[in-house]
Amino acid sequence: MSANLPEVRILPNAAAALPLLLDEVRALLRQPTPLLGFATGGTFTAFLQALAVELQQGRIAADALRATHLDEYLGFAPDRAGGMVHELGTNCPALLAMLARGTFFPVPHDGTPASLRAHDERLQRAGGVQLQLLGIGRNGHLAFNEPGTPFDRGFHVTTLAATTREDARARFAPQEPPTQAVTSGIATILQARRLVLCAFGAAKAPAVRAMLRGGIDPACPASVVRRHGSALVLLDREAARELDGSVAAG
Ligand code: PGA
Repeated sequence: MSANLPEVRILPNAAAALPLLLDEVRALLRQPTPLLGFATGGTFTAFLQALAVELQQGRIAADALRATHLDEYLGFAPDRAGGMVHELGTNCPALLAMLARGTFFPVPHDGTPASLRAHDERLQRAGGVQLQLLGIGRNGHLAFNEPGTPFDRGFHVTTLAATTREDARARFAPQEPPTQAVTSGIATILQARRLVLCAFGAAKAPAVRAMLRGGIDPACPASVVRRHGSALVLLDREAARELDGSVAAG
């Protein structure tokens, strides 16, 4: 099977990704149905804060923008600390205004089949996700599709891997991190018109190598980005340090 190698750019540091990500958002807003799928996690905090400034100062107009996100901890309503919508709104308050206006579509935290189906249909009615931002777990997960998740899944409830819960421990301390989440599936993610995956820091280097150099296999869910025809991978030098020289520098 032929695979589309994503465009891979190795940047001097994570901050260098910010103007590229903001340019992706500007390009999205030139689309007729600009629906942006946010990713959460430390990888995107600086981007969300930079986007907040752009929106607040009117350099990026939010009127036409529609937004959603990849995943939510099971049972975490949008205003619950530790949850993904709460994180997005804390870093980019304009998203909370969009939530109130009904132009930000939160992943249903109850995870019932009916609400997941309704969410998927709402995304379709909004024209489908045009730009999907993605992080990668150090175990290679994509959203909360943990290793072993079949590539044909849509939105579903999943059990978090041990490393995923470990990485979330500080976020929930002194409580235990949740064990379950509602996540966009690999099949859903692949439907987006464009994917932009970011990975920064040495802890991600083995997962980045598996994503770009291993098999395209559910053992490394992120490897599926190589099946997408319009995928961009932004790495800092540390995240790229286990790649050989065959990846073009950005
Ligand atoms: P991080 O999470 O941005 O906090 O590293 C990314 C992920 O787990 O997908």
